[in-house]
Amino acid sequence: MLLLQDIAVTYNNIIAAVQGVSIEVPDKTVVALLGANGAGKTTTLRAISGLLRMHRASITRGSILFDGQRIDHLNTTQIVQRGISQVLEGRRLFADLTVDENLRTGAISTRDSTAVRKAYDRVMDLFPVLRGRGKGQAGYLSGGEQQMLAIGRGLSRLPITATCWKLERSPWRSQLPNSCRTRACASFILACTRVKNEAV
Ligand SMILES: Nc1ncnc2c1ncn2[C@@H]1O[C@H](COP(=O)(O)OP(=O)(O)OP(=O)(O)O)[C@@H](O)[C@H]1O
Ligand SMILES: [Mg+2]
Repeated sequence: MLLLQDIAVTYNNIIAAVQGVSIEVPDKTVVALLGANGAGKTTTLRAISGLLRMHRASITRGSILFDGQRIDHLNTTQIVQRGISQVLEGRRLFADLTVDENLRTGAISTRDSTAVRKAYDRVMDLFPVLRGRGKGQAGYLSGGEQQMLAIGRGLSRLPITATCWKLERSPWRSQLPNSCRTRACASFILACTRVKNEAV
């Protein structure tokens, strides 16, 4: 379980971006974090993934626990090794690499080839549209397919994936792995912006 307890984040020691955020992500669940532009969704995900420092920000209050252990003092590498990955906004795939090569980059922190193989099969089960496309160039996938690949890369080994999407009229549900929707797979935390006050 991932637990954020009363988190506060400040940029440049002065800009209070997030205050008093508490979130619970139990195992095998999907939790959505909704908020207007500038509400602090990306900042919250950065706090979870240990990416604040590179943005000259820090957690000034509260704690983050993963499976009962504090992770808010760890660096990003250590957090990834614990099992949390972030699918960054904008997909950021390696467009010139193949689908398989992109997925392999998600599993780069493990040397357990059996686990990598298993994770690969799982991603293909979750996103059948990627099956048979492994040798194809990632840049030639459609936008939605690339989003699936980006999520698949995040899931290539790891149990928790944090992702940030702009929630428009887009078929975001179709991009969410089936088994996540049915709570049979990894945990997800989604950060979404409501666009034009449409109901979510
Ligand atoms: N690198 C930064 N330096 C200074 N302030 C920042 C930085 N990044 C974000 N902020 C500020 O922190 C607050 C939260 O921003 P954040 O990017 O987390 O919002 P968001 O909910 O992800 O918004 P959006 O829906 O537009 O992506 C905003 O007031 C923003 O101006
Ligand atoms: Mg954002």
